Amino acid sequence: MSSIVASLMPEFERLRQRFPEGFDSSMTLPCLRRIQELRGHVADEDISALVQWLGVPRIQFEEVLSYYTQFRRRPVGQVRLEICRNVSCSLRGAERLIGHVCQRLGVAEGGTTSDGRFTVTTAECLGSCGTAPVMVVDDEYHENMDIEKADRLIDAMSHADGGRGG
Ligand code: FES
Repeated sequence: MSSIVASLMPEFERLRQRFPEGFDSSMTLPCLRRIQELRGHVADEDISALVQWLGVPRIQFEEVLSYYTQFRRRPVGQVRLEICRNVSCSLRGAERLIGHVCQRLGVAEGGTTSDGRFTVTTAECLGSCGTAPVMVVDDEYHENMDIEKADRLIDAMSHADGGRGG
C-alpha cells in the first residue's frame, strides 16, 4: 500500500462509514482529492492501493482522474501556473502570454523548471472569460493578465518564501 494511502486510512475508514453499503465507488472522488492534497499529485501506487482496498475497478479511478482536470498524475513544481488558451483568452493575447512565460522559465507547456519551483500548464477555459486572459497561480486567479503582470508575479514568487506574504 502506498505510504500516503496508508497514512490516510483512518480518515478513509471513517469516511466509508458515512456511505451506505455497496456505495464504495462514491469514495473515489474524496479519496483522490485527499491524496492530492498530501502528495501534490495522484501516483499509480495510490490508485493500486485504493483499488485493492475498495474493490472498485481501476478504470473508475482513471476516468475520474482524466475527467477532472484539477487532478494531477505527475509531480509538479512548488508553484503551479495555469494559463487559459481558449477563445476569449486567445483573442486577448493568451498565446503570447503562454509563450513568454514558458520562454522566461525555460520550460515547455506542461513542464517544470529544473529547480522544481514552477510548473506551467494550459487550460481550456478557466471560467473567467470576461476578464481574459486569465492565469491561475496555484488556486488563485489573476485576471486581465499581460506579460508585465506575469513577470511581476513570477519575480515575486521566485523568492524562497514564494513572495505571497501579506
Ligand atoms: S476562455 Fe479563458 S477563461 Fe474562458
